[in-house]
Amino acid sequence: MKSVSSNKELKRMVGIRAADFVKDGMMVGIGTGSTVAFFIEELGRRVKEGLHIIGVPTSYAAKLSCIQQGIPVSDCMLFDHLDIAIDGADEIDPSLNAIKGGGAAHTNEKIIASMADEFILIADESKMVSSLCVDFPLPVEVIPAALTYAEKRIRQLGGIPSLRNAVHKDGPVISENGNLILDIKFQHVPSDLALLDSQLKNIPGVLETGLFLGMAKKALIGYRDTIRMIVPEG
Ligand code: A5P
Repeated sequence: MKSVSSNKELKRMVGIRAADFVKDGMMVGIGTGSTVAFFIEELGRRVKEGLHIIGVPTSYAAKLSCIQQGIPVSDCMLFDHLDIAIDGADEIDPSLNAIKGGGAAHTNEKIIASMADEFILIADESKMVSSLCVDFPLPVEVIPAALTYAEKRIRQLGGIPSLRNAVHKDGPVISENGNLILDIKFQHVPSDLALLDSQLKNIPGVLETGLFLGMAKKALIGYRDTIRMIVPEG
């Protein structure tokens, strides 16, 4: 699903800048992806200089990177609240609604983003779009037993589901929670994403969608000439 990382330098700049939001003593939700990898690297550098935080990672990938960088980590299941969560995105619209799940971690990412007082998206300019679901297929996490039934129900909603296959393993991608990922394309882009989100979650066996609607109140976006802090339009 994910293309080879582009705009590496922009991601690096944004990842480093995002670390400024993390203050001493914070419980920090830590997202997944190549932009967040730079954020983790910078956080690790600051931890070595004396910053005290606890990281709560959204995936095995994020957890491993945190540990490699010397960031103390704990498990999301032990907490009901975080101070901040910082994460990447696959698409972001002007209202800061986002699609996530290119790394198949969106269920845990949504739990952790929801727990945080402040959820900040970090991305390079290529992720900014005028409307979601036009280019990037919408990921949904599906319990294996529901695969074929969920595909049928998604088609009835006008979607074209595609089971995400692994790259270095035969067969499908297995999520952090042991489930499958369906990537949904739309012939006609749904006008009401909140309705689509609830219709998808209403399908028995669909665990979570990659739609992050109204969750981020800030996005740090790397452009060729600068980094901009974006707030939701309207
Ligand atoms: C992980 O499931 C995704 O939601 C990522 O946060 C998203 O794909 C962003 O990744 P990059 O920073 O690698 O573009």
